[in-house]
Amino acid sequence: MEVKNFEKINDDKQRQPSMAARARKARHCELAARAAMAVAFVWTVVVQLMHLWRTPRPLREYQSNGYLMVSSNGGLNQMRSGICDMVAIARYMNATLVVPQLDNTSFWHDQSQFKDIFDVDHFINSLRDEVKIVKELPAHMQRNVNMGRYVSMPPTSWSDISYYTDKILPGELKKHRILHFQKTDSRLANNGPLEVQKLRCKVNYNALKFTAPIEKMGKKIVKILRKRGKFLVLHLRYEKDMLAFSGCNEGCTHEETTELQELRYSIPWWKKKEINSTSARLAGLCPLTPEETALTLKALGVDRKTQIYIAAGDIYGGERRLKTLRAAYPNLVKKETLLPPSDLLPFKNYSSRMAALDYIVSLESDIFFPTYGGNMARVIEGHRRARHVKIVHLLEVKTPHSKKHFKREKFTIDIKTGLSQ
Ligand SMILES: *[C@@H]1O[C@H](CO)[C@@H](O)[C@H](O)[C@H]1NC(C)=O
Ligand SMILES: *[C@@H]1O[C@H](CO)[C@@H](O)[C@H](O)[C@H]1NC(C)=O
Ligand SMILES: *[C@@H]1O[C@H](CO)[C@@H](O)[C@H](O)[C@H]1NC(C)=O
Ligand SMILES: *[C@@H]1O[C@H](CO)[C@@H](O)[C@H](O)[C@H]1NC(C)=O
Repeated sequence: MEVKNFEKINDDKQRQPSMAARARKARHCELAARAAMAVAFVWTVVVQLMHLWRTPRPLREYQSNGYLMVSSNGGLNQMRSGICDMVAIARYMNATLVVPQLDNTSFWHDQSQFKDIFDVDHFINSLRDEVKIVKELPAHMQRNVNMGRYVSMPPTSWSDISYYTDKILPGELKKHRILHFQKTDSRLANNGPLEVQKLRCKVNYNALKFTAPIEKMGKKIVKILRKRGKFLVLHLRYEKDMLAFSGCNEGCTHEETTELQELRYSIPWWKKKEINSTSARLAGLCPLTPEETALTLKALGVDRKTQIYIAAGDIYGGERRLKTLRAAYPNLVKKETLLPPSDLLPFKNYSSRMAALDYIVSLESDIFFPTYGGNMARVIEGHRRARHVKIVHLLEVKTPHSKKHFKREKFTIDIKTGLSQ
């Protein structure tokens, strides 16, 4: 109606530009529509890509040969390494893994279970393309366990993966359908097939994520340290269990030496009882003492003002043994001195949760300095290398749109290969 009126009141001269204007307008509309469609298309693709990214990896389909239950032994980081091995073993035996039980009888006496330390759902979901993991046995299987119809054994230490696939799988798992491994420490040899190694790395650096409260408190400590500048994490493995186990008593009093020896003799699964501390030291089997640590840090040129965060439980011998280190590095801190006591209350009685906080801080530190090449030193070193890869690839990312997916993809691939470069 309006258009007609409009035409009526316009003469030819006026009509010419008006038609051109209309054509222009139409073209504008078309262009706008096309642009809108293009935007919509790009948006759809982006949304779908994001959806794809969020969608859990596809399940790995396989016929399960039975259930594998495992009891991890040792402190947090020993259990952590053991869990990585057990996931790989379950994967290559085509077993269904039951979420590991954590040690509540070790020196550290922590009653925490897996779900108190690690994010269980993340663990299960991030490994779904490798191995089936269940939170607990199905009821009918649990009844079998209750009636003793299952096999429980410690697997042979430092075995090849073929020990599990060729011997344990046909001999135990397929026969009994429920297999329980009583121990998980060092049950799988290193330097096996690359595929197995990749999977262990994926578990260690990807699937084992701490629970939200632990992550939150760990980040809080890191934030406090960062506010004051750069920091070095010192994994001062000068704790009672370490000294008792290794028989190293350099610098200890006579009473302490006796106490350490008594502890060693009281723990049946610590095989070596008679240890000459001097020979052990000469053989390079002892952790650095706090005094030697101070000397080493000075020799390495670490500045006196450096913030040094001690990642450890109680140092054996207490302040008496820390005196030299504190004199050389007065900026010595630990979680207990950085956080108000109320923050640590939910963690204090649980050594594994305390160790998890140290783990987070160690990962984030500018320098990580372990005084002994034990479980924590090794898992942290590997984890820091894996994260270094992430940083390297972030620098390579150029286009802002692809950034998110690109960097994550790269990250996952590198974590899987476990290669640091
Ligand atoms: C595991 O499952 C895969 C896929 O079904 C199969 O190809 C493979 O032979 C199985 N291996 C064992 C040891 O059962
Ligand atoms: C330790 O854990 C096992 C299995 O999870 C449980 O049966 C046992 O009661 C626990 N021991 C203590 C002292 O809590
Ligand atoms: C311990 O070993 C050192 C060095 O090998 C040796 O000199 C010392 O006599 C040994 N001590 C004992 C009590 O055997
Ligand atoms: C920690 O353990 C001690 C001794 O077992 C107990 O007295 C205390 O109440 C516990 N504290 C917390 C916060 O659970």
